[in-house]
Amino acid sequence: MKIIDGKGLANQLKDELRLETDKLAKLGKRRPHLAAVLVGNNPASESYVRNKVRSCQQAGFESTLIRRPDDVAEAELLTVIEQLNSNNDIDGFIVQLPLPKHIDEQKVLLAINPDKDVDGFHPMNFGKMAQGMDAFLPATPYGILLMLEHYGIETSGKEVVVIGRSNIVGTPMSILLSRKAKLGNATVTLVHSRTKNLKIHTQNADIIIAAIGIPKFLTTNMVKDGATIIDVGINRVEDATRKSGYRLVGDVDYDGLAPKVEFMTPVPGGVGPMTVLGLMKNTMKAYLNN
Ligand code: GUN
Repeated sequence: MKIIDGKGLANQLKDELRLETDKLAKLGKRRPHLAAVLVGNNPASESYVRNKVRSCQQAGFESTLIRRPDDVAEAELLTVIEQLNSNNDIDGFIVQLPLPKHIDEQKVLLAINPDKDVDGFHPMNFGKMAQGMDAFLPATPYGILLMLEHYGIETSGKEVVVIGRSNIVGTPMSILLSRKAKLGNATVTLVHSRTKNLKIHTQNADIIIAAIGIPKFLTTNMVKDGATIIDVGINRVEDATRKSGYRLVGDVDYDGLAPKVEFMTPVPGGVGPMTVLGLMKNTMKAYLNN
């Protein structure tokens, strides 16, 4: 089994971004600038946003973190978004999800200027992506495509199964891989919680992308020999032996699958860092579009 080293690849690509941004700075130009809005203090969200800010530093980007408390009014959050939309120093921004229950997530995402929507969550970007037009690709599917490309994993004509139909991973991933495009042309099956006999589909897959949010959901008996496994899951499970009290587990049974598959992403160190990299590349794209 070959490990797909998302962390290493993300670092390499961030170094390449750093060369570009340093070159811009030498020419007297400003650096790309990403802002993140974090509502409340969900520990997972805190950790993701911390990684995003750290990655900005690595890539030579400016970053701004805007925090609001858990009980922020929806109207105030919409005002923050309006200010970011009209701030010419900010190339792109994200609103970290999930948001508290009293806030309408769709309304918030619709308020983001699509030209600054570096997460690729706005329906304008989603629609353009689906029609093969130039758009910000959602960060996780984008990062996964970059990994497949780097490791020379062919998608054209392959059977791909995507597990999970979220707006931010499963659904866009299935669209991108079935597009008539480089890193597309796959025969894609999207399976989910209501799929009957899910195993029949996964057992036939050359590439499986697991994004269902259930620890170790994909087990050895569900996968054919020589498959490629992309594990999007980042599940916190209690672990008293760790200082933090938890450890991260993906959506696949990594140890069980390792002897059987050709390529697999680890958790942590696989898809997670590549998601952040996708976000950085989108921010660079927003900067260059300006
Ligand atoms: N929550 C989980 N993943 C993501 C992501 O990629 N972007 C944002 N904004 N929130 C998330």
